[in-house]
Amino acid sequence: MEHLIGFYPMWYVPSVGSATVIAIIATIHVLASHTSVGASILLAYLATKAHRENQPQIYDYIKKYLLALLVFSYVSGSITGPGIWFSATVANPRGISALIHNFVWVWAAEWIWFVAEVTLVYILYYTLGRIDQKSWLRLAWTFAIGSWATMYIIVGILSFMLSPGHEKWFTTGNILDAFYNKNYFPHLFMRSAYMFAIAGTIGLVIASLMKKDISEKVYKDIVKTMSYWGIGGVILGSVFFGWYFSTLPERSIAMLTSIVPTWYYALIFALLLLVLAHFVLTAISPRFVKVHTAYPVYLLIFFLGIYPEEKIRETIRKPYIAGEFVWVNQVIAKDVPAKGIKSEVPTIQQAGFLAVNPFVPEGLKRITPENEIMAGKAIAILQCSGCHNVTGNSGLRPFAKKFEGMTDKNAVYNFLANYLTPENHPPYMPYFVGKDEELRALSAYVADLVSKGGRVSARIEVPAQNQARIDGR
Ligand code: HEC
Repeated sequence: MEHLIGFYPMWYVPSVGSATVIAIIATIHVLASHTSVGASILLAYLATKAHRENQPQIYDYIKKYLLALLVFSYVSGSITGPGIWFSATVANPRGISALIHNFVWVWAAEWIWFVAEVTLVYILYYTLGRIDQKSWLRLAWTFAIGSWATMYIIVGILSFMLSPGHEKWFTTGNILDAFYNKNYFPHLFMRSAYMFAIAGTIGLVIASLMKKDISEKVYKDIVKTMSYWGIGGVILGSVFFGWYFSTLPERSIAMLTSIVPTWYYALIFALLLLVLAHFVLTAISPRFVKVHTAYPVYLLIFFLGIYPEEKIRETIRKPYIAGEFVWVNQVIAKDVPAKGIKSEVPTIQQAGFLAVNPFVPEGLKRITPENEIMAGKAIAILQCSGCHNVTGNSGLRPFAKKFEGMTDKNAVYNFLANYLTPENHPPYMPYFVGKDEELRALSAYVADLVSKGGRVSARIEVPAQNQARIDGR
């Protein structure tokens, strides 16, 4: 009892895992947010051009684009933004806690910028043509700055999740050391460049929908602007990607070359070429701008670009969820002297993984022959399910496949006892923490699972004998 650690209840999503739930919400959010941040700058630029060259029709286009942003990006973006943090909080409360303890004011600042951004998009839409152009332009640039500021801030938190970037933060605990970590700027610039390709693609869709309402000259002008910014975005984004890559921690590079499937890169590369080719064609001649080409390209960006990119970012962060000290399975595995945080590994090794978790039923905390398999299942869910489907044979890296053919618990034990150790564990996986009898229970569960064809119920039940012992019967 004296060794309880502040773990939270576990959110176990059978088959695909909670990580996939977050990934789906996050991908929608990235599409919406990058469209709107990119568009905010593109539109401010276009408005300046309209004002200078006295081309009022460009404002009609801007108004349509703003409406599209309001109806699509802002609705889906505002739902999925908090959705990411809600789902991430239930999936990984201690990871989010680590972030909050560093970045609470940074988050607050982001929220302020976001409120400014949302307020301004409404103001811009409803005041266009009703107030003088100069004032409207000033608002448009404020909107652009505010939108980009939200990205400026959130990228600091995202890159810290991958790595604090330098050892210094562990001893200073300084918020700026955490925020301006080694891959902050390449990450920020990479997103800032690619967002123009995303916003430019949807800009072409809107242009072609309005073709009949504006003069040919203005139409060509808009198409050229979208295409040039798009081309610049793809090329610069790829240059910044190279820079980003060079700032990744060693373990991430190891994972990029070992466990990220090659076809992910193939997809992303093919997509970049496609988006670039599309912009080059539309830059050469506006004839090539078609809703039924530009819109599919936009959707492909979602499926072939953003989704694999988000998955890769998740993968190369392993085995940590945040700051290179909290593992995906919630265990704090490294000291952070500046924050008074101590690794929990020694306590868990000594007291037992099941014993320290307040949400493990009493009847599973002491392992007996009757509860061994059930206790093993609890360990698998708590310690492995962040990255594996531990009760089914499909979905997220199912145990059934990783332990294929291993129906003997001693064989599983011998394998894990040599593999998931502090010395031998692979860079993408934490080593096992717990007592030896707990590793035996996990092995018994795995062998039982595999011998049952890889699928069992995800329920955790305390066997009657163990319950009786607790109740003192
Ligand atoms: C941080 C994520 C993560 C956690 C937590 C995790 N694993 Fe893994 N595991 C992986 C990845 C990634 C792979 C291999 C790549 C793939 O096939 O996708 C893997 C592969 C494996 C393999 C196959 C051997 C190999 O290295 O390819 C076994 C066995 C395995 N895991 C067991 C476990 C057990 C048991 C636990 C819990 C004690 C666990 N894993 C926890 C990420 C994780």
